Amino acid sequence: MSLLTRTEQALSTYFAQAAGVGAPPSLVAAMRHAVFSGGARIRPQLCMAVAAACGDDAPELTNAAAVSLELMHCASLVHDDMPAFDNAEMRRGRPTVHKAFSEPLALLAGDGLIVMAYRVMLQAGVQHPARLWALMDNLTHGVGLPHGIVAGQAWECETSADLGQYQRAKTGALFVSATRAGALSCGQSPEPWAPLGAYLGEAYQVADDIRDVIADAAVLGKPVGQDALHARPSSAQALGLEGAIAHFDHLIDQAADAIPACSYRDLLRQLVQREAERLVPKELCQGYFEAHANETVGHVRAAH
Ligand code: IPE
Ligand code: IPE
Ligand code: MG
Ligand code: MG
Repeated sequence: MSLLTRTEQALSTYFAQAAGVGAPPSLVAAMRHAVFSGGARIRPQLCMAVAAACGDDAPELTNAAAVSLELMHCASLVHDDMPAFDNAEMRRGRPTVHKAFSEPLALLAGDGLIVMAYRVMLQAGVQHPARLWALMDNLTHGVGLPHGIVAGQAWECETSADLGQYQRAKTGALFVSATRAGALSCGQSPEPWAPLGAYLGEAYQVADDIRDVIADAAVLGKPVGQDALHARPSSAQALGLEGAIAHFDHLIDQAADAIPACSYRDLLRQLVQREAERLVPKELCQGYFEAHANETVGHVRAAH
C-alpha cells in the first residue's frame, strides 16, 4: 500500500471515530470539507516514511500520529484563509471553509480539528503511554509557542520579523514534528530525524513563496500574489526570485544530506527529490524566466 493510500485510509477511520455521533451536522461537514479535499498529505507521509525506517512496530500509533499532524495542518489552513488573516476564497481548488459554510463555522471547524488531533492521539496511544506522552509533547512544539504554527502566524502581527524565524515557525516546525513523530511512534530517539524535517519544512515555505509569484492559481488551487498583496515577509521578495530558487535548491540538498544512515536512505532521498520537483518544477521556472527575459537575466536551475 502506498503511503498516500495509508494516509487517506487512516484519516477516514480516525476522523469518523473521533467525530462520534450526534455532533452538529454543519460543523462536521465543514470539518470534512477542510480535511477531505485533496491535500498533498506530505506531513503524514513523511511521518510514515520515517516510521518505516525505524521499524514501524506500532503501525496504529504511527497512523494516529500521522493523522493528528494532518488535522493540525488542515486546521491551520482553515484559520489562515479567514478574512482576519489572508482572506482567501480558494483552497485546494475549492471554496475555502468560511466561503462554503460561514465564518463562525470556519472558526469552530479549525478549533474542532485541533482538539480532534489530540483526541486521535489519546485514543490510539493507550497501549503505549510513554510513546503517547512524547508524541503529544512533540505535537505541541509543532503547533504552539514558542516556535510552532501559532507563533509563526503571530509574527505577521509584529512590526518586524526575521524571515527565517517566521518561516521555520509557521511551516518548518510541523515538518520537524512529522519526522520526529515517525521515530517516536516506534519508541526511538527522534533527534537524528529532526534536521530532515527542519530543512524540508523551510524549503517548503520558500517554495510556497516562489509559487506565489510564478505559479498559476488554477494549478495551485489557491490564489497567487498573496504575499505582495498582504505585504507578508517572503523569500521571493527578500532574496529576489533567482535568489529564492537558489535558496530552495540549497535547502533541498541539505534535507537530502540530513537523512540518517539507514536502509531506507535512498528511498527517502528519492522522496525529497520528487517533492522538490513537484513543488518548484524546473520547467515552470524556465518558462517564467523566458517569459520575463527582458526584466531579468535568463536563469536555468542547477540540476541536482
Ligand atoms: C500549504 O501547505 C501551506 C504551507 C505551509 C506552505 P501544503 O502545500 O502542504 O498544502 P496542502 O495540504 O497540499 O493543501
Ligand atoms: C500558511 O502560510 C502556513 C500556515 C501556517 C497556515 P501561507 O499563508 O503562506 O500559506 P498559503 O499560501 O495560504 O497556503
Ligand atoms: Mg498566511
Ligand atoms: Mg495563506
